[in-house]
Amino acid sequence: MLEHGAAPPTAQRPEGKPPAGGPGARLMRRKPVEWLVAEGGQGEGGSLRRSMGVWQLTMISIGATLGTGIFVVLGEAVPDAGPAVIVSFVIAGLTALFSALSYAELAGTIPVSGSSYSYAYATMGELVAWVCGWCLILEYGVSVAAVAVGWGQYLNELLDGTLGITIPDALAAPPGDGGIFNLPALLVVLLSMAFLLGGAKESARANAIMVGVKIAALILFCAVAFTGIRAGNYTPFMPLGMAGVSAAGATLFFSYIGFDAASTAGEEAKNPQRDLPRAIMLSLVIVTALYCLVAAVAVGALPWKKFSGTEAALAGIMENVTGQSFWAVVLAAGAVIAIASVVLTVLYGQTRILFAMSRDGLVPPVFSKVHAETGVPRANTVIVSLFCGVLAAAIPLGQLADATSIGTLFAFALVNIAVIVLRRTRPDMTRTFRVPLSPLFPLIGFGLCLWMMNSLELVTWVVFGVWMAVGLVLYFAYGMRRSRLATAEK
Ligand code: ALA
Repeated sequence: MLEHGAAPPTAQRPEGKPPAGGPGARLMRRKPVEWLVAEGGQGEGGSLRRSMGVWQLTMISIGATLGTGIFVVLGEAVPDAGPAVIVSFVIAGLTALFSALSYAELAGTIPVSGSSYSYAYATMGELVAWVCGWCLILEYGVSVAAVAVGWGQYLNELLDGTLGITIPDALAAPPGDGGIFNLPALLVVLLSMAFLLGGAKESARANAIMVGVKIAALILFCAVAFTGIRAGNYTPFMPLGMAGVSAAGATLFFSYIGFDAASTAGEEAKNPQRDLPRAIMLSLVIVTALYCLVAAVAVGALPWKKFSGTEAALAGIMENVTGQSFWAVVLAAGAVIAIASVVLTVLYGQTRILFAMSRDGLVPPVFSKVHAETGVPRANTVIVSLFCGVLAAAIPLGQLADATSIGTLFAFALVNIAVIVLRRTRPDMTRTFRVPLSPLFPLIGFGLCLWMMNSLELVTWVVFGVWMAVGLVLYFAYGMRRSRLATAEK
């Protein structure tokens, strides 16, 4: 077992030492791909277990993607875009697609658990890798909180429909939203934590069942709401112009976040080189098709102006169309399960990213300690869950969702660049999947990410700037000195 803080044993190292030099060179030091791959699965005190095939990996990505975005955020985006929200979904999906191609290439070439953080470390150096990892905490850690908040909304819908009670606002909303504390949001995070502590294989199995339920719930929605479609609801198609459509696209980008989650399972996959690219692409295709279908049916069944201020939009549409609360209750039950699986898988992803960062010495060693019996990074899972749970209980959904989107878009932008860099620096590596027309497609992916970031509100940029500043302070105060590459240079 590797000792934390030490370089990998000589047998696993490529020839030579990592690039040494002055402070500038240190920030640019890159982790050789061979090191990354050689360390696969190893943590302190035990190893992660390789138990997942392409099916489970695809389910992880769908599990992490399909949730609050379609069940809740859709309702917030329609007032911006009108019926053209369908176009907004396509725009957001295209942005995701170009980046997904890049993810697929890198995940097949560097099949480890750190996702884009590890890809950046191998291609653009330690500082960029840290920045990327720090963005991933927005993508994963903060989105768990955002998603958990959406879960609470559907739970209330379900309780109302079945038992006629709702959790009072004081206990179901954070301070900014008229409450004191969001108890359901905290609860779903803690439940997911309990699953994750049981083992990755067990969590993957539970996730696969939940994914089946959520796809069924969305298909059911389409089948029932289809009967309520009125052609008039599609006109005017773009009431607030293209600006509204692209603003809604940026908001809806949130609903695509998570397709990359399979790339955090690289060290628990049986055949990661072959299966990771397949899982990433397959999940994105399935999710995009479902989103466009659901959006088209939703705006056809309810005039776009009526979406303003609706919570649990899809359940409301079902009730409207049928006049029976029964269907809304069924959908709400589906959504409660659906969104719980996002919390589970995204929480999983966050723990594995921190695992990789900790193994590199950039965050404390406690995050890479693996429990010998379960093969789970236990302390890591508990710390991450408590952090996300408290965040979910205390901050409103909209703010969390936008912060998540900007961090994710930045990480995706870096992944697109990483593909181009790795093609140049390591053309010799085996690539089980290649982005077509590189560098054109990765450059388009990069441009689309920047364009989407540009559509987000100023306040989101300010939050992002503060987040980055905090991250940089932490890096210079801790990671730069403790990095394993730094200790290997000495
Ligand atoms: N894409 C995930 C969701 O929509 C984060 O819930």
